[in-house]
Amino acid sequence: MKLFFTKKKWSEYRESLTGPLGFVPTMGALHAGHLKLVHEARNNNDFVAVSIFVNPKQFNNTEDLINYPNTLEQDILVLSQAGVDAVFLPSSSEVYPENDTFITVVPGKSAEGLEGAFRPGHFEGVVNVVDRLFEWIHPHNAYFGQKDLQQCLVIQEFASEKHPNLKIVTVPTEREKNGLAMSSRNLRLSEEGRNRAAVIFEVISKMKDSTADYDWAIEYLKQYEIETEYLTNIEISLNTDTGLMTKAWVFAGYLEGIRLIDNVLYN
Ligand code: PAF
Repeated sequence: MKLFFTKKKWSEYRESLTGPLGFVPTMGALHAGHLKLVHEARNNNDFVAVSIFVNPKQFNNTEDLINYPNTLEQDILVLSQAGVDAVFLPSSSEVYPENDTFITVVPGKSAEGLEGAFRPGHFEGVVNVVDRLFEWIHPHNAYFGQKDLQQCLVIQEFASEKHPNLKIVTVPTEREKNGLAMSSRNLRLSEEGRNRAAVIFEVISKMKDSTADYDWAIEYLKQYEIETEYLTNIEISLNTDTGLMTKAWVFAGYLEGIRLIDNVLYN
């Protein structure tokens, strides 16, 4: 597995590749959810590239950025074992050089509300870094986890305009045995917290099958010391391996001071 730290070295390598390239952008602290994206990319492309870059511009909260887990050595090891061909590890000044000529991308309508409302500036940060990565990596297929549902919708929307030849593939959420959606942030929960957090998936799965009002759900989550930020159902249009999904229950909230999100998709 090759490691690239600069765009220049990467583009020399990129020019040498002839077949389809699958790309998995990440911020490191890799878990089984990321590996599922990598496997999906591995099964459907001749080459697989992963980027690891903790993008400061998408953190609306400095503390969250400072506390973002860093497991780089382990990440490189698991990626090489997963059959990845190349890892792109740019520095901040590679991604955001002083004389920046990149035109700022403005996220579309799907960035409104939910994460867009509670994390101002977050999706601006995401689309702008992803736009650069798409431009440099130049993949045929790019893979995103459905746990970050609104991110999938925002990227699908912006990429259809700016990168029309690139296929955005969304991959179902990988879960712990107890149902907790895998997330790099779970590393910051205590063991007890990780057990309690399982109730989030339990609740949103029940919401899917009921039309009852959801005050009970918020109270129920509170009993597990989970403070809900939002819990709602939304209309979506998301391409998945099981077809187009048109509805979702989405959750965001806090446990042990850690912000957790999850969703269930349905038609
Ligand atoms: O989902 C993530 O880890 C990030 O938002 C991404 C897509 C790598 C952009 O920094």
